[in-house]
Amino acid sequence: MLIDFATLEPRMAYFWMASTITPRPVAWVSTRANNGRTNLAPFSFFQMITPSPPTLMISPLVNSNGSMKDTVRNIEETGEFVVNLVSHDLVQLMNETSFGYDAEISEFEQCGVTAQPSAIVQAPRVQGTPVSFECKLSRLMPYPEHAPSCYVIFGEVVAAHIDDLILGEDKQIDPMKLDLVSRMGADWYGRTKASENFTLTRPAGWAR
Ligand SMILES: Cc1cc2nc3c(=O)[nH]c(=O)nc-3n(C[C@H](O)[C@H](O)[C@H](O)COP(=O)(O)O)c2cc1C
Repeated sequence: MLIDFATLEPRMAYFWMASTITPRPVAWVSTRANNGRTNLAPFSFFQMITPSPPTLMISPLVNSNGSMKDTVRNIEETGEFVVNLVSHDLVQLMNETSFGYDAEISEFEQCGVTAQPSAIVQAPRVQGTPVSFECKLSRLMPYPEHAPSCYVIFGEVVAAHIDDLILGEDKQIDPMKLDLVSRMGADWYGRTKASENFTLTRPAGWAR
């Protein structure tokens, strides 16, 4: 089967890309507007960009009416956000916070998610997540520039909160204890804790 993307509706392009570019990690993004209102929503268009300066990327789509999602508006307004990673025990709560609540409603209060103060940024982090990255906005790019379908957001990581429970005896992250969820196609989710996981060493002579 060959799919010609030149003639494809965005809805179908989304379908084919989002169900094959998998698994995607989930950034559970907490923000705080200047008026103090908090917001929390998951985004799977999410990746690490570079360790120098330590930078991650999220790319929220626009709402169906073309407006910015609350997360994007808060990040543009305050220049700060927190990316919380989602362990399997939090997946139901994370899913509830994806509902399109009005901007006046905080998903923390509406969905019963406990907020914890961050160390550096004003946006709160989510209690109980294995890892939270406090970020300062480094770039916010509408894409495509003149008729944006998304906002590509680069955040510089200024602090990370790591739950000691996900560390092994060597004080390194134990991938099996981390137990994150990821997005796959349709309603499917993956888990980093899977019996089919395997290790693979780099080719001899590989240098970073
Ligand atoms: C697991 C998961 C991943 C999601 N990933 C994205 C995404 O990458 N981009 C996006 O625009 N919406 C994504 N959504 C939908 C948003 O979470 C949803 O639109 C949310 O209401 C946005 O909230 P906000 O307006 O408070 O920012 C995702 C939802 C779920 C459950």
